[in-house]
Amino acid sequence: MPAQRPSLARTPRLRRPRAATTAFAALAAGGLVAVAFAGCGIVGPGAVSTVGEVDFDTPLAIPPLAESTIDADGTRVFSLDARAGTTEFTPGVESRTWGFNGAYLGPTLVAARGERVRVDVTNSLDVATSVHWHGMHLPAETDGGPHQMVEPDAAWSPEWDIDQQAATLWYHPHPHGETESHVARGLAGMFLLQDEDEAALPLPREYGVDDVPVIVQDSGFSADGRLEDPRTGFAGRLGDELIVNGTRGPFLEVGDELVRLRLLNASTARSYAFGWSDDRPIELIATDGGLLAASVELDRVMLSPGERAEVLVRMTPGERLTLQSTMTPEIAGMNPSIAGMNGGTDAFDVLELRAAEQLDPAPELPDRLADVPPVDTTDIATTRTFALDGFEINDDEMEMGRIDETVTVDTTERWVVENTSQMPHSFHVHDVQFRIASIDGAAPPPELAGWKDTIFASPETEYELVMRFEDSADPNTPYMYHCHLLWHEDQGMMGQFTVVEPGHEATPPNTEETSHEH
Ligand code: C2O
Ligand code: CU
Repeated sequence: MPAQRPSLARTPRLRRPRAATTAFAALAAGGLVAVAFAGCGIVGPGAVSTVGEVDFDTPLAIPPLAESTIDADGTRVFSLDARAGTTEFTPGVESRTWGFNGAYLGPTLVAARGERVRVDVTNSLDVATSVHWHGMHLPAETDGGPHQMVEPDAAWSPEWDIDQQAATLWYHPHPHGETESHVARGLAGMFLLQDEDEAALPLPREYGVDDVPVIVQDSGFSADGRLEDPRTGFAGRLGDELIVNGTRGPFLEVGDELVRLRLLNASTARSYAFGWSDDRPIELIATDGGLLAASVELDRVMLSPGERAEVLVRMTPGERLTLQSTMTPEIAGMNPSIAGMNGGTDAFDVLELRAAEQLDPAPELPDRLADVPPVDTTDIATTRTFALDGFEINDDEMEMGRIDETVTVDTTERWVVENTSQMPHSFHVHDVQFRIASIDGAAPPPELAGWKDTIFASPETEYELVMRFEDSADPNTPYMYHCHLLWHEDQGMMGQFTVVEPGHEATPPNTEETSHEH
């Protein structure tokens, strides 16, 4: 079998003492009493395994496709209303949740490259929130970050042109300091982009049938089946049970030989290592920003919070196959004692696929899926470094009124991201899809060689990212980069960059006035 390798395997380097001290100080400052240093690990939730223990007795919910209208100038218009409601994760037991246009999660938006879209966002919650289009290339004022808050009963209607390749993107709130809780309550949904190149491939694409959204979240449940806050470790909340598209114990009946799953890790802190119960290889065809050059067969597909993967599975008639996540310290890049406390040894049954006795055959896929050009480092305008440590980036916490980086539009940059600590982090950049040029100086493995907007930042590892800031200069509105472990983001592990015309300066945002009402 080709390419059997754990992601991101590497030789550990020496521990730097400062990492531990900073993390401890940050934890203490956060007032987190359940977490303390013990030896070289952090005490948090212990190892969890639900393998073999999940009764797959509930059909997988499929988020509805969002309705849209085309307005007079050809713009495709969607509506999203953030609201509170109740959800029965367990029959007859109501949990209080939030959702878009419903009680939990939100509809799946679909748009094609070249279309202009508008989303009429309204907020029926009693707190302010925002809607960020994760992975989307778009003007900063439409990005839905912490500077585009939507107050209760207010509306916000960002409008932009879809100008990137087919991909599995998603949307979620981004209120500064509150992102974790807004996402954990259920505010998240998928945003699928289509283009002609992808449409020309013989890939499964019947939504909810052979092209299936798989939104994976971990949570806690009380004994009677009510959603409750899970325990918290260094990574953030780590629930001991999974829900997929909001379904507890999900199964999916399939009638096709070839099934495409769009995996989204919409968990706030937990990373997954997805694979199949019979250990067949998992066939990866796309990462955050779109298709890989060719499919890759892996033992496991690792996804940290915010990352997506499209995978294919070939079913045989009548079989039952379980998608699982079996994380190991090696895959997580963590010292085993730290891994054990941060979900790095946890195993889950995720979703059961049940194949019909008769399956519709699938055409063979071509060897080449997409043109993914080599990473071009010949024309780097600027190199920036980002050190991740504690809950800080480059020794700073997020400040809404401070611009950390000013980028010149229409240039290519190298961002060197180093997790200098022994703790897990991640790194997400708004507005762009980037490429990983190297990991600790070596070429990335094939599963990390395509378009990405979020990476797991393995402890004591350096990532060289190359990205191009095509257009949309706006000196007045920043984009964000941050750790996508949402509790870390909320603690301030985030910075702001502004894209400006050559020779221009960024205007720091007026933090008195960050909400928009139209
Ligand atoms: Cu998915 Cu800045 O976030
Ligand atoms: Cu982090």
